[in-house]
Amino acid sequence: MALSKFKRFLVTGGAGFIGSAFIRYGLQSVSFCEKIVNLDALTYAADLRNLSEVEKDPRYVFCKGDIRDEALVEKLCIEHKIDAIVHFAAESHVDRSIAGPKAFYETNVGGTLALLEVVRRLPRVHFHHISTDEVYGSLEQGGAFTEDSPYLPNSPYAASKAASDHFVRAYAHTYGLSTTISHCTNNYGPGQNTEKFIPRMIYGCYHKKDLPVYGKGANVRDWIFVDDHSEAVWSILAKAKKGKVYDVGGGCERTNVDLLKSIIQEFSDLKKEDPKDLTSLIAFVTDRPGHDFRYAIDCTKIKHELGWRPQHDLQLGIRKTVAWYLEHPERLVLI
Ligand SMILES: NC(=O)c1ccc[n+]([C@@H]2O[C@H](COP(=O)([O-])OP(=O)(O)OC[C@H]3O[C@@H](n4cnc5c(N)ncnc54)[C@H](O)[C@@H]3O)[C@@H](O)[C@H]2O)c1
Repeated sequence: MALSKFKRFLVTGGAGFIGSAFIRYGLQSVSFCEKIVNLDALTYAADLRNLSEVEKDPRYVFCKGDIRDEALVEKLCIEHKIDAIVHFAAESHVDRSIAGPKAFYETNVGGTLALLEVVRRLPRVHFHHISTDEVYGSLEQGGAFTEDSPYLPNSPYAASKAASDHFVRAYAHTYGLSTTISHCTNNYGPGQNTEKFIPRMIYGCYHKKDLPVYGKGANVRDWIFVDDHSEAVWSILAKAKKGKVYDVGGGCERTNVDLLKSIIQEFSDLKKEDPKDLTSLIAFVTDRPGHDFRYAIDCTKIKHELGWRPQHDLQLGIRKTVAWYLEHPERLVLI
């Protein structure tokens, strides 16, 4: 990876699924990474066990706190001479946003705004914003979103992420801040909360519980192994010019039901079980309200401009993920 002018990072939400993978990747594989301060409020979604491999690294500092606490964020940036904030912290689960949208507004919009206010006072600090392909809405058959696709968020989660993207763009434009944004497709990998689809299915396979699939399981998502997402963000930090926006995807589109069949296949191969027994656990349940049909991302820009590409196809990524959960069965609990 190219050398970067940024060496000292404040990572928000670094005890969550993707933020913790990003921190592990940075401390273990990125030569220019001199310091990572992890600011996380430790909500239900956090799991500090995801950081046990790196918690004693002298370059790593953990701080329990809220991104909306501007004084704390400013103090951390000054005290640790932070060059760049990498902003993962969010309420991230679409179903929870349908049950209670307000927390999504408060954390995802209010939290991002608070961080941008700090960067406005410390404009030498770069701000990288982690966003999602869900801001673009739903695709039907064919095509893929690009960085120029219009914003058409459908869920309260997607709306809160879209609003936060707009604030990043507006602060860069109005105040001349140095910002970048990445929009990523669905992530999976070790250490993800069992509320999300793939670990929930592995939980069901392991405990012989139902495998609930929305509707007819026909919704299509593109899946990316979390380390590939981490590498994309580190590449953006190393090489991207300020103001750039990149779409990041795994190139692995599947219907939910086909993805589940792959999980069952890998699980039964590893456990030497009969896949038919697991298939009988599949339960089609009432669809999520307003469920987006399909997301897909065109990653041409990041591939051409930064030379990044995903290293995992779905079979390899699912095998690594299932194997990890089988080695960590204590993580197969519902919260
Ligand atoms: N999971 C995906 O598939 C996916 C895909 C694209 C983009 N994203 C985005 O990536 C980011 C990380 O997603 P994730 O799946 O790792 O989320 P996650 O829910 O696993 O983790 C979120 C983390 O943020 C922390 N947090 C929440 N509110 C906070 C606050 N007010 N102050 C400080 N910390 C707070 C939580 O404690 C948790 O550790 C999010 O911005 C999400 O929108 C996720």
